[in-house]
Amino acid sequence: MNLQDRNNMESYFYFKDEEREVCFKRHDTPTPWINYLTNGTFHTILSQAGGGLAFYRSPQIWRISRYRFFHLPTDRPGPYIYIRDGALGEYWSPAYEPVEKKLDSWSSAHGMGYTRFQAAKDGVNSELTYFVGELENSLIWNLKIKNNSSKTKQLSIFAYVEFGMMEFMRELQWQCYNKHQVSVEYLEEWGSLVYKYGVEMQPKPDETPLVYFTADRIPDGFDGDREEFVGSYRSEANPNAIEQGSCSNSTLAGGDPCGALQFNISLDPGEEQTLNIFLGTGMTEEDIRKSIENSRRDTFVEESFIKLKENWESYLGKLQCTLPDKETERMVNTWNPYQAQRNFLFSRNISFYATGTFRGVGFRDTSQDILSQIPFDINASKDKIKLLLGQQYKDGHVNHYFFPTEGWEPVTTIHSDDHLWPVWSVWSVVMESGDLSFLDEKVTYYDGGEAAIYEHLQKALEYTKSHLGPNGFPLMLRSDWNDQLFRVCRKGKGESIWTSMQYGVMLTKMAELARLMGKIEDAAAFMSTFQQQKELVNSIAWDGKWFRRAVMDDGRFLGTDEHDQAKIWLNAQTWAVMSQMADKDKSFAAMNSVKEMLDTELGIKKIHPSITDFPDPKDPLTNYNPGTGENGAVFCHANTWAIIAECLLGRGDIAYKYYRQLIPEIAMKKAGVWRYKAEPYVYASNLFGPESDRFGLANVSWLSGTAAWMYIAVTQYMLGIRSQWEGLLIDPCLPVQWKQAKIDRKFRECNYEIEIINESGVKKGIMSIEVDGEIQTSNIIKHKNGRERAVVKVIMG
Ligand code: NOJ
Repeated sequence: MNLQDRNNMESYFYFKDEEREVCFKRHDTPTPWINYLTNGTFHTILSQAGGGLAFYRSPQIWRISRYRFFHLPTDRPGPYIYIRDGALGEYWSPAYEPVEKKLDSWSSAHGMGYTRFQAAKDGVNSELTYFVGELENSLIWNLKIKNNSSKTKQLSIFAYVEFGMMEFMRELQWQCYNKHQVSVEYLEEWGSLVYKYGVEMQPKPDETPLVYFTADRIPDGFDGDREEFVGSYRSEANPNAIEQGSCSNSTLAGGDPCGALQFNISLDPGEEQTLNIFLGTGMTEEDIRKSIENSRRDTFVEESFIKLKENWESYLGKLQCTLPDKETERMVNTWNPYQAQRNFLFSRNISFYATGTFRGVGFRDTSQDILSQIPFDINASKDKIKLLLGQQYKDGHVNHYFFPTEGWEPVTTIHSDDHLWPVWSVWSVVMESGDLSFLDEKVTYYDGGEAAIYEHLQKALEYTKSHLGPNGFPLMLRSDWNDQLFRVCRKGKGESIWTSMQYGVMLTKMAELARLMGKIEDAAAFMSTFQQQKELVNSIAWDGKWFRRAVMDDGRFLGTDEHDQAKIWLNAQTWAVMSQMADKDKSFAAMNSVKEMLDTELGIKKIHPSITDFPDPKDPLTNYNPGTGENGAVFCHANTWAIIAECLLGRGDIAYKYYRQLIPEIAMKKAGVWRYKAEPYVYASNLFGPESDRFGLANVSWLSGTAAWMYIAVTQYMLGIRSQWEGLLIDPCLPVQWKQAKIDRKFRECNYEIEIINESGVKKGIMSIEVDGEIQTSNIIKHKNGRERAVVKVIMG
């Protein structure tokens, strides 16, 4: 393939927006482009070519199917289907993997919670859809197969999955012994294989499920022993059983387990049949029997799929928009909230990049993920906040990572930012619901005792107040939002100027909550601390053209023009504005410096220039190569705050430039498919920056704080629709070329149909707002109990 073909985006994919699908025209994308299929308990990751893995609740201890990280391509193996034509002796896979035979036609698509494949070969057409329904904890494989030829076809369909050892680390370390403690049985009566993980000293044996592999009919053959199915010196591409045309009905009591099911079908010309396969879990054999019985109901698969579709429509229906820019509209309506919901579920745990081995729930990351979920699912958001606050100690600090599902000990390093984040999410819950009672709900401390949520937050702020450094800024502790900063603060003296700004945001939000609760003295105390930090930020932290980032252990500043590396850091500029701490002229100057020194055509770099040997060649701040990862890359998560800051400054054109250049399909188009590489429908964590020779390469897609914050940036700051105590604030900040935008937003049981008109081409500012034909005096639409629909007309000017 020549370079031009490799980079031609149109040859790979297109969007079908009405269906909320991204459709693939070829399987050979530069990396696996994946989807998450899940009902919140049973999960599957699946690539565009049919590779992936299934797990139950935790990818660390209940990984159902095997996944080989270092395999090439990296999406192997997966839940596979083989279609064998008896007369021809030929076989192929509708997903492309694992047989990889050239097909007469092929396409695949990811939708909301499902992935489908269409393929045809030798007169046989197949449509294969995978999804996880809500009615059972199983991956449903729905195969429709049609004979388009003029002759009757005798086909054998094989469904295959390689079982993993549930505990992934044990699989890597101890499988040679422990694999003899697993078994695969065949339950004759139910025509089902059952995989049992019976390994000694499992973390949670009582919660470990049995796995079943079955179909909507009794199979004509099966295998539970991978060696029998695949054979020696073969692979999933050419298993012995498929070549021979039949399984050997093996079971397994110790060894390498798999599930293989064979179905022989005869198809007359023009005839179509449907076969449904189920890979699922149940706690007991009785549960499994019930689950299989339910799954074999005639309407089960259809019901499950309709419910999945309806759930997503109702979920995404909380905010839908029509915009002049289709790429933005597509992200806002579908792919951005979809990705954010997956982050909310999986934190940074498992993807084809995150190994699912050591990261449970990250306190910092999850606190931020919650922010985007609040308008969609306030109850799940509240539960997650309470889960987080359960990790807080009475002195106010929190555990950095924890493992609620696995039950392992948490990671207890103390970071300057972690404990502060929940203030924002609790504040958002209160604003979204218009209800203060959440603040009174009790949550236990990690080290015993319980307190109301308000007190938890108060303790968090107190912790920061009692851990200030010599200059008066919060001590860096193990790090702040930037994981790397401990390297200049190891001695415990270093301070984080960025955390001071984050603290500022949280103090203001707490002051508002305190006022609403009638705690006027608390509010005054929070604002007085805010003022103290604000003064420090505008004096000590100001470098002349931008804000400094931190004070290192040795007392020198980080992020100053005096150094030749890492002179300027993005977060210190954006949060100076977001916290409203920066004086007006400094806010503009700082964000101008971002534009001049950090912005590129593929996003904003996190620092400039990259670090090679600073502050000490023997112990540099980071080992990341220049332009990569945390060192001068375009860190997408941090870019979102630049969009917010520009909106707060009223510079809609700049905000839009920053937003648009990171829309994955736009960045991919600019960089080229083979440079960008990752999925064009979800955000990646970072893109290599211009100091790397692979500028534009996107890394660690799917699981990134970018998802939540990008959604907040575009909906709450660019479109400007933010929930406030009194009602819905309308404060758009748009590019001048957008003359009109329509947004439907569900807020406190009322559907707001908002039309923003910008004929005069301003970037910010409202001339008039009408609600149901009545002119408003403020840009906060006051909430009215019982109102179900409000038609809002906003004229910018
Ligand atoms: C990724 C981590 O998950 C996140 O917690 C951190 O804020 C960023 N890296 C930046 O260092």
